[in-house]
Amino acid sequence: MSLDTQVVFAKPVSHSCDLLAVLVREGAVAAGGKVSDAHMGDLDRALGGLLHAVAQQEEFAGKEGQQLSLHTHGKAAAQRLLVVGVGKNADADRARDALRAAASRAVKAARLAGARTLALVWPYAGAEEVDGLQRDVQALAEGASLGAYSFDKYKKEKKPLKLARVQILARDERSARRGGEAKARAILADAARLGTRLAEATCLARDLVNEPAGRVTPEELAATARSVARERGLQVEILGLQQIRKLNMNLFLGVSQGSAEEPRLVRLSYVPRGKKTGKPVALVGKAITFDSGGLSLKTAQGMEDMKTDMAGAAAVIAAMSLVPDLEPPFPVHGYFGACENLPSGTAYKPGDVLVGRNGVSVEVLNTDAEGRLVLGDVLAWAAEEQPAAIVDLATLTGAILVALGPWTAGLFSNDDALAGEVQAAAKAAGESVWRMPLPPEMEELIKSPIADLKNTGGRYGGSINAALFLQHFVGKTPWVHLDIAGPSSLDKDKGYNPRGGTGAGVRLLAEWLRRRAGQ
Ligand code: BES
Ligand code: MN
Ligand code: ZN
Repeated sequence: MSLDTQVVFAKPVSHSCDLLAVLVREGAVAAGGKVSDAHMGDLDRALGGLLHAVAQQEEFAGKEGQQLSLHTHGKAAAQRLLVVGVGKNADADRARDALRAAASRAVKAARLAGARTLALVWPYAGAEEVDGLQRDVQALAEGASLGAYSFDKYKKEKKPLKLARVQILARDERSARRGGEAKARAILADAARLGTRLAEATCLARDLVNEPAGRVTPEELAATARSVARERGLQVEILGLQQIRKLNMNLFLGVSQGSAEEPRLVRLSYVPRGKKTGKPVALVGKAITFDSGGLSLKTAQGMEDMKTDMAGAAAVIAAMSLVPDLEPPFPVHGYFGACENLPSGTAYKPGDVLVGRNGVSVEVLNTDAEGRLVLGDVLAWAAEEQPAAIVDLATLTGAILVALGPWTAGLFSNDDALAGEVQAAAKAAGESVWRMPLPPEMEELIKSPIADLKNTGGRYGGSINAALFLQHFVGKTPWVHLDIAGPSSLDKDKGYNPRGGTGAGVRLLAEWLRRRAGQ
């Protein structure tokens, strides 16, 4: 569920709502409590200096994460006031991410207070251009709906969100000056709508990741893709066991063969209207609906969270659901090969040699390195369409958590320009990625004495040798691999990202597609 978020042109001090959240930059309230922000000044006067006094008492300085809360007792039109610090960020993308976090905070405060209406006021600085203003509004709408998320469908006691509406208060004087008020209103309304849609899609991915593996089976994940395709007017192709056999995807089939659930190979497609369209781009997601490790069985603790091993595919499905909103002038295909990785009498075994769709043979040394096998076949299939670019997202290695920590995705690429595009899109979307190397001299770590490749390269550089493995399946296609094992699910809340599935990659992909579409 996402929040209905609208842009309203109004003065904060005279705007009626249950909760008025004023986002202020560090410095807007000086250390001594002196208020320099214009809206804060208005509110402080209306409250007879109370805001100043409370800010001083609580040493509120507008630092990111600081907040103040007070009742207005009828002295302002809003019932309650929440002042949220957004810190001091010289970088516009970072500053905008602080807006997402603050909007999310405000929604959480509204939930606790039982507020039905919430209004957000934000500092305009850095938004002098209409483009900046738009992006601020989009970020606020994203943050509000992302902060409203909770996965409580299996709880008897739910914490209901009474919020019916979120309003983003814009200052009419300034926006009206730029090409007329009506136009400014329409542009900002679109930005709020896009932000809400991005959050909605992110929450679809969160739900899919949080849903247990007993529910999100390969068949169920494919069914979700089908219903998204119906709703959003995408084409969808779903292939079963026999068809996957015909495609010679023996790496994928090897992983799948230990499970009673049949695999599914899915392709979602957006094709723009009109005759002249550019080369397609391909999005590929890892879709292991449960990873026990197979015969190379994980420990009990190691598999507690392995229902999340389809987070890459969840991000691809969610991003594909956004493509019709973005209307790029080129086709976009979303691919995933869904299966379970389980031990059984029919399971693939360490030592097995499998030959994939593109003819590369692989010696399986560890059945827990399954993601690269499935992705190998699906990437090879995607590459056959000769896309302009492939971006894959995968909860591929625990090693990427060792390298980059719990909140950053590893980015690997064979193309510097594409890597730069995706890095810039990630930054604008507020997603943390860090480029990792693909050193050719490490290839020898994944060479097998009896096959072309082996599926493990030892403990050192584990996420790098996994990425090097994938590279054998994309040919010369410009390609980015995002190892999202860290940020795709969290063990505790972090800003606007909740514990559990985060929807990592969804907003990044949408932003990247927008940029490629020249928007
Ligand atoms: N799905 C896991 C990676 C993973 C680990 C994701 C922890 C999220 C949190 C992947 O299939 C896996 O098991 N990788 C192995 C590879 C190893 C056997 C070479 C790993 O990282 O230990
Ligand atoms: Mn595994
Ligand atoms: Zn896995």
